[in-house]
Amino acid sequence: ELVSASKEYDVIIVGAGIAGMSTALLLDSRLKVAIVSKGQLAECSTYKAQGGMAVAVGRDDKVEGHIADTLRVGQGICREEAVKVLASEGPEALEFLISLGASFSHNEKGLLLTREAGHSCNRVVHYYDYTGKYIAELLASKVNDTTNIDRLDSCFLVDIATDKDGCCGCVVVQAGKLVYFRSAVVVVATGGYSGLYARSTNAISSSGDGVAAAYRAGAVISDMEFVQFHPTAFTTKSGRVFLLTEALRGEGAMLLNAAGQRFMSTYHPAGELAPRDEVSRAMLQEAGKQGGMPICLDARHLGKEYLMDRFRQVYAELAQNNYFMEQDIIPIAPAAHYTIGGIKTDLWGKTNVACLYACGEAAATGVHGANRLASNSLLEGIVFGRRVATNINDNFPAKRENSVQLACTMGEIDNYDDVNALRTKLELAAGVVRQGQGLAAALQWVRDSKNSSVIRPADTQSYPACNAYQLAELLLEAALLRTESRGCHYRLDFPEKNEDLQKHILQQWGRKTVI
Ligand code: SIN
Repeated sequence: ELVSASKEYDVIIVGAGIAGMSTALLLDSRLKVAIVSKGQLAECSTYKAQGGMAVAVGRDDKVEGHIADTLRVGQGICREEAVKVLASEGPEALEFLISLGASFSHNEKGLLLTREAGHSCNRVVHYYDYTGKYIAELLASKVNDTTNIDRLDSCFLVDIATDKDGCCGCVVVQAGKLVYFRSAVVVVATGGYSGLYARSTNAISSSGDGVAAAYRAGAVISDMEFVQFHPTAFTTKSGRVFLLTEALRGEGAMLLNAAGQRFMSTYHPAGELAPRDEVSRAMLQEAGKQGGMPICLDARHLGKEYLMDRFRQVYAELAQNNYFMEQDIIPIAPAAHYTIGGIKTDLWGKTNVACLYACGEAAATGVHGANRLASNSLLEGIVFGRRVATNINDNFPAKRENSVQLACTMGEIDNYDDVNALRTKLELAAGVVRQGQGLAAALQWVRDSKNSSVIRPADTQSYPACNAYQLAELLLEAALLRTESRGCHYRLDFPEKNEDLQKHILQQWGRKTVI
């Protein structure tokens, strides 16, 4: 039974990361806003972001340089207008954070800017090695102090509700009940789907639920095949995957093979600072040559004092695992890190469904093309979150009639058993290196995995599995269709770029997938 909520909102934002919270804070204070989220702040990818935020504010840097680097790493399919927006509005995004009280790592000369892969200069604004946590806590405290914003925590998004005029709210599970929250506008800022992989730097809860819900509501989904793997992920004693920020390599850390030799320059002229997809593939190849022995990260020469200060989070985590960066080399392997695919939007975060917006990792603005430039994602969250807020402020829809016909897929959902099996399947078939046969077999397996349909339960157990299988199907289908290698999508059976595929793969519920 669906319970109608007593509360109505002007704007519901689903997701409480950098994109969702920035949007909320920048909406007109006369609007009644709710941020709906399912988990803890510490689980979200914003909180876990270490490296920082790329902004062209260095003395010798220019917005044009940031644009050129983003386009080059995106391998021919970035949406150029979106990249221009991202880079040119970067300094204002930074100003926004500073206006809230942020004070990033700096010295007497100004901001300290670090280097990450794919950047032609030092461009990454950071707060030690926990920039994401610093920003997330700051935004959350501002949200808590803002009276027109309600926080609805522990609410799992089931579906986006639509009527004849477009989006009109969302259905969530709240305290064991299916609840409909009505709103004039919904913003999906639920993050990406890297948590669907067995090995991910994200929490398992980064499972793309907002993307799946938007897909079922008729939104066009784009670029699902592009999953970025981070090369330097460490596995803790308890089996958790922990990111070792790329800023370590930016500050001089090296990759070593089992013979203790650097090898990256034989794979790419930029060596350790080659784009992530190149580094991840080179590491797998090098590990293959040494019978699977791990590749290691060596930061010993940076010295204990510096490492303990600049990389304090990473240092502490490794120390808890009996690795001390000033004396030990650290075994690492790639892990799913960032998903480029998501809900297709225009430059203002609008989707094809009226009154439905998306921003942050859940959105596909086209800004990342086939590979995301390091540290562009925190920036994207603020730049496009601001644009969503501006567009809503300027075009707030007139009040609609009160007779909502829920056109979302309320009723039955597909039932699946085992998300862990799916995670392993995706890891093997759609990992750093893919090939057609494996992708096709995995796609068939996903399609065969559906057990039955069940009437929508008022629990939070069944929905993530349903979403996971739905998204995996989209990802595998898109990866099969992209019969080439481009950016972070690498196919052994099609190792070159195919210029005919210099476009985006679009998917929509009930329609044939198109390139
Ligand atoms: C990192 O710190 O290496 C991650 C930065 C990013 O993913 O942009």
